[in-house]
Amino acid sequence: MGVPPAGPRARALAARLARVESRNVTFLGSADAGAGSGADAAAASGTDPSAGVPIFWTAAKGANVLDADGNLYLDLTGAFGVAVAGHAHPAVLDAMASQGARLVHGMGDVHPPEIKVELLERLAGVAPWPDCRGFLANSGSEAVEAALKTAMLATGRGGILAFEGGYHGLTLGSLNATHRADFREPFAAHLHGGVHFAPFPDALEASGGGSGAEQSALEASLADVDRLLAAAAAAGTPVGAVLVEPVQGRAGVRVPVAGFLAGVAERARRAGAVVIHDEIFSGFGRTGRMFAAEWEGEAARPDLLCVGKALGGGLPLSACLGSVEVMNAWPASTGEALHTSTFLGHPLACATALAFLTVLEEERLVARATATGDRLRAGLAGALDGVPQVRGVRGRGMFLGVVLDGPGAPPAAGVRVAEEALRRGVILLPAGSKGEVVELSPPLVLTPAQADAAVEIVAASVLAVVRR
Ligand SMILES: Cc1ncc(COP(=O)(O)O)c(C=O)c1O
Repeated sequence: MGVPPAGPRARALAARLARVESRNVTFLGSADAGAGSGADAAAASGTDPSAGVPIFWTAAKGANVLDADGNLYLDLTGAFGVAVAGHAHPAVLDAMASQGARLVHGMGDVHPPEIKVELLERLAGVAPWPDCRGFLANSGSEAVEAALKTAMLATGRGGILAFEGGYHGLTLGSLNATHRADFREPFAAHLHGGVHFAPFPDALEASGGGSGAEQSALEASLADVDRLLAAAAAAGTPVGAVLVEPVQGRAGVRVPVAGFLAGVAERARRAGAVVIHDEIFSGFGRTGRMFAAEWEGEAARPDLLCVGKALGGGLPLSACLGSVEVMNAWPASTGEALHTSTFLGHPLACATALAFLTVLEEERLVARATATGDRLRAGLAGALDGVPQVRGVRGRGMFLGVVLDGPGAPPAAGVRVAEEALRRGVILLPAGSKGEVVELSPPLVLTPAQADAAVEIVAASVLAVVRR
């Protein structure tokens, strides 16, 4: 680390950004600076001018990131889980360059780019149904919107059942199924009332309750699902879509107790609803399976599947995939698509997605997620064993959360740990509704040496924060 973050260039960039970007977007420091940046105000008030100022990325390769001040970091976030094959994978860059030389933009739903056909065929090949149909889109939220619309067409119902802690995006339709109050409340007047939230039985939280606690958590949660489905039907607003993250990412990498996904699917179908899995974060190998729901086998198979993040190999791309039976609820196009967008099937993103899917297969990244994930998890659990503030390390594959809400843990400990790790050369994100979790979603190409360095720095950062 040449310059302690955030260095002088980062502080200058933060000050410039504060003058041109909507002030809610990028957190520029804890000091309230009015029109200026937190860095400006902190400098003026004599406090640490770097506190909370972000680093500004200038380059990234594999699991490494270079910032504007010339510091090199290990990225344990995959930049919101996107860089599954690592940043700037050479095969993805080649695909981008050769596609860019031929066709950058096409006419997605009118005269489609040829490569859109190829990508949808590849996605159908990895989807969990023998006969799959899909929608391409640009962001995860848009994939969720497409799934919710599909469920409404398939069932004729507008009601939605989602889960406490769930995150599905911030566009109005997806926001309506996102649970966290701070995202919802400012826009409550735009959200319709037909959404119900059932408890999500996190296995680590349940395991604290002694023997049989997981089974009780499962039964209680499924009973709530039944109750909410029945109440919505009785109120004349029956549920058409049951939307669930097979592993809740932003809520703190919460893995449900065994049997939950299958139980939800069974109950949803019995009540006439469509099951939507949001695997925007958990999909494409992150958990050590192609899709996280595979951990629960065939009985957990959804009717619709939302994917995004990793799919584009770094370019914005998402998809809502579904079984042909459910997807054919959409009428055949008569020339005006009912759901589309300008950049649908963007040729560059289709090309990088195809390259990403090839890398995933050829480099056997799904299996590597299990091996490296086990190494990370065992290393962290060992290094933090017996630390009372650490409730545990949870997750699957390379989707892990260190849960920091044990006795004596400082508030928002995950936020503090991310700050501490940054100073030690590691990029991390906090998660959980109170910032009580440190989330790890690194590139699956992380080497064993990088994984060991990650364990050492994350554990040291946790200990530094809880013992402060
Ligand atoms: C599970 C899940 N669903 C949906 C989204 C929204 O995706 P996007 O930010 O691309 O709109 C996210 C983003 O973090 C996510 O984690």
